[in-house]
Amino acid sequence: MFKIMLFTIVISTSQAYAMYSGEMAEIGIFKQGKPIKLSIEETIPDSPNREKAINLLKSTRLELVKTNESSSSQSASKADVGYNFPNLAPWDLLITKFIKDKYESSNLRPNLGDWGCGHGIFSRHAVISGANPYVIELHKAAAEEANKNIFGAKGYLPDGVDIKNLYKAFHGSVTCPQKNFMDRKNAINVSFNVLHHLNPSDGDLLLKNMFENTVSGGITVVVCDTPFGSPVAADYYNQSLSMKLKYPGFGVYNSSKIAFKDNLDKKYTALQSIHRPSNEEIQTLKTGQAHNGTYPKNQHLDDTKTIFVDDLSGKADGNILGELQPYYYQNYHALINKFDYLGLKEIVEAAGFKAVNGWYTDHTIDTLYPYDVETDPKLCRKSKVVLVAQKE
Ligand SMILES: C[S@@+](CC[C@H](N)C(=O)[O-])C[C@H]1O[C@@H](n2cnc3c(N)ncnc32)[C@H](O)[C@@H]1O
Repeated sequence: MFKIMLFTIVISTSQAYAMYSGEMAEIGIFKQGKPIKLSIEETIPDSPNREKAINLLKSTRLELVKTNESSSSQSASKADVGYNFPNLAPWDLLITKFIKDKYESSNLRPNLGDWGCGHGIFSRHAVISGANPYVIELHKAAAEEANKNIFGAKGYLPDGVDIKNLYKAFHGSVTCPQKNFMDRKNAINVSFNVLHHLNPSDGDLLLKNMFENTVSGGITVVVCDTPFGSPVAADYYNQSLSMKLKYPGFGVYNSSKIAFKDNLDKKYTALQSIHRPSNEEIQTLKTGQAHNGTYPKNQHLDDTKTIFVDDLSGKADGNILGELQPYYYQNYHALINKFDYLGLKEIVEAAGFKAVNGWYTDHTIDTLYPYDVETDPKLCRKSKVVLVAQKE
């Protein structure tokens, strides 16, 4: 008798979520035409654990999504798949504020899908803001980390809420998610910083699956790399656009990791060149993975090992950066697919969604700038594009 009653309660609660999701039409927050700047405080509902939650979410940093124990943030391993962004990332705040407003105005927790969740940093925030996430991640180690991180939100929720009933973490691919993942439909589907790691056909599959998995009236949010973070990438993109190529940001991106001998804390990545991959090359490379390989075919960059460039004059051939300080470099290349707002809108709408709005930002700033407003390059490098679309 007890079991039957419990079952009935579970069903009626999930029906309530579904009804709520279907009716969600209030997307005004996304329609404003001015820059958006939010704080963690604006994303956390009132509860006795609110201050504790704010401190937790403020403390996270950009971290490498390591899929291999031996890799470190200094080295690009074949299996490493980019970075996990902190809770302060402006797209994270935009969506968790939306969740918090919905949750507080209805007292119902919207279903959310997090496609390519990395270590689950965003979904941990989303569950605290009031959503019930289902997350999916390709790399087992990262999926396990996500499971741990989201479960860890249990001490930051309102009293009496049991985290175990709020989320599920799946180890799988966004291109062919498990049935259990797909069967639960979501009012909010997000894919943050994943699309540029996929080849064009896999990117299209991701968006098709997200569309199928979104309730009518629900929203999808996609964040990915733009070509504007570096002049080399912007040139490549503009050239492809003028040649009317489909997926103009798709190419082999050849980069060097740079570290300075006298100050090892000062390090950065320099994009050296990009080339359009041949079909044979596409077969040998997997999109998104970093390879310590033989690209580019450049006389200065043909050493795959970290080497020391000892040229204080900055004039000799070996000094690729023109830097006066001695530095180390390590070459790697990755097959990447970048988008500007209009290119992203095109493929998201081809999957069936209707774009609501979009912004440019980068991961070092706290503001989203409307895609169609001129932005001071000193304020924003526009290395990330954020797009919100709706399933009508
Ligand atoms: C740059 S990280 C972003 C992580 C997180 N979404 C964020 O924004 O912080 C990209 C993530 O996408 C995952 N990923 C790449 N291809 C995937 C696929 N086909 N299916 C699921 N996850 C994938 C990677 O393993 C990695 O964790």
